Amino acid sequence: MSGIRTVVGAPAERREGREKVTGAARYAAEQPGTDRAFAWPVPATVARGRVTGVDATAALALPGVLAVLTHDNAPRLAEPDDPTLAVLQNPEVPHRGWFVALVVAETPEDARAGAAAVRVTYATEPHDVTLTAAHPEAYVPEEANAGYPARTERGDPDRAFDSAAVRVDTAYRVPPLHNHPMEPHATTARWDGDRLTVHNSGQGATVVRDTLSALFEVPAERVTVVSEHVGGGFGSKGTPRPDVVLATMAARLTGRTVTLALPRRHLPAVVGHRAPTLHRLRLAAEPDGRLTSVTHEVTTHTSRVKEFVEQAATPARVMYAAPHLRTLHRVVALDVPSPSWMRAPGEAPGMYALESAMDELAGELGMDPVELRIVNEPDTEPDSGKPFSSRHLVECLREGAYRFGWAGRDPLPRSGREGPLLVGSGVAAATYPVQASPSTADARALPDGLFLVRVNATDIGTGARTVLAQIAADALGAPLDRIRIEVGSSDLPSAPLAGGSSGTASWGWSVHEACTRLAERLAGHSGPLPGEGMVARADTTGRADAVSPWARHAFGAHFAEVTVDTVTGEIRVRRLLGVYAAGRILNPRTARSQFVGGMTMGLGMALTEGSTMDAAFGDFTECDLASYHVPAHADVGAVEAHWVDENDPHLNPMGSKGIGEIGIVGTAAAIGNAVHHATGVRFRELPLTPDRVL
Ligand code: MOS
Repeated sequence: MSGIRTVVGAPAERREGREKVTGAARYAAEQPGTDRAFAWPVPATVARGRVTGVDATAALALPGVLAVLTHDNAPRLAEPDDPTLAVLQNPEVPHRGWFVALVVAETPEDARAGAAAVRVTYATEPHDVTLTAAHPEAYVPEEANAGYPARTERGDPDRAFDSAAVRVDTAYRVPPLHNHPMEPHATTARWDGDRLTVHNSGQGATVVRDTLSALFEVPAERVTVVSEHVGGGFGSKGTPRPDVVLATMAARLTGRTVTLALPRRHLPAVVGHRAPTLHRLRLAAEPDGRLTSVTHEVTTHTSRVKEFVEQAATPARVMYAAPHLRTLHRVVALDVPSPSWMRAPGEAPGMYALESAMDELAGELGMDPVELRIVNEPDTEPDSGKPFSSRHLVECLREGAYRFGWAGRDPLPRSGREGPLLVGSGVAAATYPVQASPSTADARALPDGLFLVRVNATDIGTGARTVLAQIAADALGAPLDRIRIEVGSSDLPSAPLAGGSSGTASWGWSVHEACTRLAERLAGHSGPLPGEGMVARADTTGRADAVSPWARHAFGAHFAEVTVDTVTGEIRVRRLLGVYAAGRILNPRTARSQFVGGMTMGLGMALTEGSTMDAAFGDFTECDLASYHVPAHADVGAVEAHWVDENDPHLNPMGSKGIGEIGIVGTAAAIGNAVHHATGVRFRELPLTPDRVL
């Protein structure tokens, strides 16, 4: 059929948009069922120790309460790969907020009242939840997250630094951050004999099915996990969470359909957080701006439950040409909740620090910060020496500078003033790796001229259905309205989760293959189709990054204009502008929404978001959306997203790079650099709240 793409690249509207805005879309906690019961967890109130007793008498006497699960009576699980899922298996309390009991009742209100009536006693032990750069238990792990080496070194960065003409030796701190998706982590579970059906809010139903199959020792073919609509996740739903396990246990114990939607105030302790990162950066350059030495060292924390090492020094391996380079991660295991994935793990905090330090260096050199980045553009990926499959960072910087009106900017800090407001502008670069995983899909041509495409993708709010239908339409040479697409169930062909900005690449690859095969078979077929139609299936590998001869990354440039109120200390972001080089943009409407969403989250990271670890209680103090400030509409000024066209043949059949995460990556640094330009003061700890700025 036609090899000409017409539908990919069009701003198709979201297929499920009407369902969502009319309230017809059902989420995991909204599944109907006449026998439905509701669960409410009981979190530990000590930071470290063990449960010595759970008295459920008062709870069980309350109206509607059906059961109280504890480590004494909860179903035994097989050992999970992820130790945060071993809930109610033993009396140990590894951190405050760890679940120690679960109440099941007729209504959510009954369950909540029951949970409040459970009396738990503990034997406590001293705890340590305070991260410091000089913590005596800090160590260099074998690997940082995602399999990256914890340390890389080339040349002699210390000597090169000591002998350099221009130097910056600086430190930054990014606090713990929480994802806080609008829909909390939720599961509805039902057993029919030894068959398990689960509706879940996660970012990938196949992995949830496999996890439940292993934990409850049920064959995978007897487990169905449905994630039809998901109200955001930002990484916190990238792995199954305790709600999945607890609801399934409760359903087994009570024989009822059980819904557990984690209460908002429980989320910070049990669904992960971006670990705090302490950064030390040393940059050295020639007077012309060319970097001679880059050192980026990161210290972060993990829990005592599992090792999770935010890979924040990895972007320095990709960004700039420097003959001497060291990147290093150190980690301390503390009595804190387990950290986990949050939008652009590694790149978001790492590029905040690196791009802030680059701005400091531009100041030392008396050089324009856009030009400083351009003179340090590498020929090949600095760390690996591999050629870039495509890299248009310079184009992003130039296009962004033009659109933003960078030319003519007075580089002098504190040079812009409007009454009580100081006005400044800043720039930062962004990068995010291109990834793809194995995926399967099938496509069926039906006698009535429709096509049915099936893949267990998850639409976490991105518009995945829409863009996959576009990919199918072009591969089939069929109009978009002839494509039916089914996603969001583990009974569909297996597919990876929506994460790592790799969903569209992975799922789309298998959809493209299945549809291309089907088109070929249809082309060789004459006469009417049989009643069941004709099917083709594809199983794609996503080509593991390790074996690629190419360094594959998306790039971008962020520009920000801020005002700083000298009376109140309040920072407002008037304008944010991003220009991206992210391969082929498959749907400009949904892509813009991803970029703008990422930038908005970066604005929150810069100005308002941050979780405080209370050293005495051993818990995060911000446990709701009244205290953890995600940007509201009034916080967000003009946000623009643009892109440069890239035609990169080394990616996937669509030519796409990921777009879900890069928007957050350089935004906080661009804002911080603008605040420095406005005020002449370099703040090195986020968020930039008025109390810090005044
Ligand atoms: Mo994203 S943090 O890879 O879900």
